[in-house]
Amino acid sequence: MKNIGILLSGRGSNFEAIAKNVATGAVRNAHIAVVISNKPDAGGLETARKLGLNAVAIPSKGKDRESHDREVVAALKQHNVDLVCLAGYMRLLSPWFVQQFPQRILNIHPSLLPAFPGLEAQEQAFAYGVKVAGCTVHFVDEELDHGAIIVQKAIPVLDSDDEHTLAARILEQEHIAYSEAINLVLSGKFKTAGRRIVKT
Ligand code: GAR
Repeated sequence: MKNIGILLSGRGSNFEAIAKNVATGAVRNAHIAVVISNKPDAGGLETARKLGLNAVAIPSKGKDRESHDREVVAALKQHNVDLVCLAGYMRLLSPWFVQQFPQRILNIHPSLLPAFPGLEAQEQAFAYGVKVAGCTVHFVDEELDHGAIIVQKAIPVLDSDDEHTLAARILEQEHIAYSEAINLVLSGKFKTAGRRIVKT
C-alpha cells in the first residue's frame, strides 16, 4: 500500500475525484494519508475532513517559500507519504522541496503543456483561439509547469464554447487523467527516456 499526500489551495475537485477512485479501488493499492492546504479556508480541506481523512492547514501567508515548504515536507514525512499530488496547489515548490521527493511529485495543469503554463490556462487557451485544448499530468521539477509528461487528455474547442464551458469540459478530463497517472506511477511500470515517460 502506498501513501498519497495531497496538496491543494482551493475547492479540491481533483482531490475528490482521486479520493473516490481510491475508495472504489480504481486507484490501486493506495491510501490518502494526508491532505494539506496552504489556505486554511480551502473547500478541499473541508471535504477531506468530511471524508474522515487527515486534513492539515499550513498557512503560507507571511512566510518565505522555503520555511513554509519545510513545514509541509515535515507533515508529509510524518504521514509517511510516498507520492505527493498537487491538486490545484497554487504555490511554486522550492528546489529543496522537489529534491525531497525525487520523481515522486505530480501536478495537474489545465492545458496541453508546454502551451499555456501559469495561471488561468483555460482562459489563455480560449483567448488564443486554439481548436484543441486539454490537460496534463506531469512530474514536478524545479520549473513551473515543466516536468516530464505522464498523461495528457485532449478535447475539441467548440464554436459554442465560452471560457466556462471549456474549463468545465477540461476539468472532467482532469478527473480521469489524474487517477490514470497515479496508477501508472505507483505501478512503477514505466521508464524515463529524456523527457519521455514510456510504459513498460
Ligand atoms: C484545476 O483546474 C487544476 O488543473 C488547476 O487548478 C484547478 C484546481 O481545481 N491547476 C493549475 O492551474 C496549476 N497550475 P480543483 O481545486 O477543483 O481541483
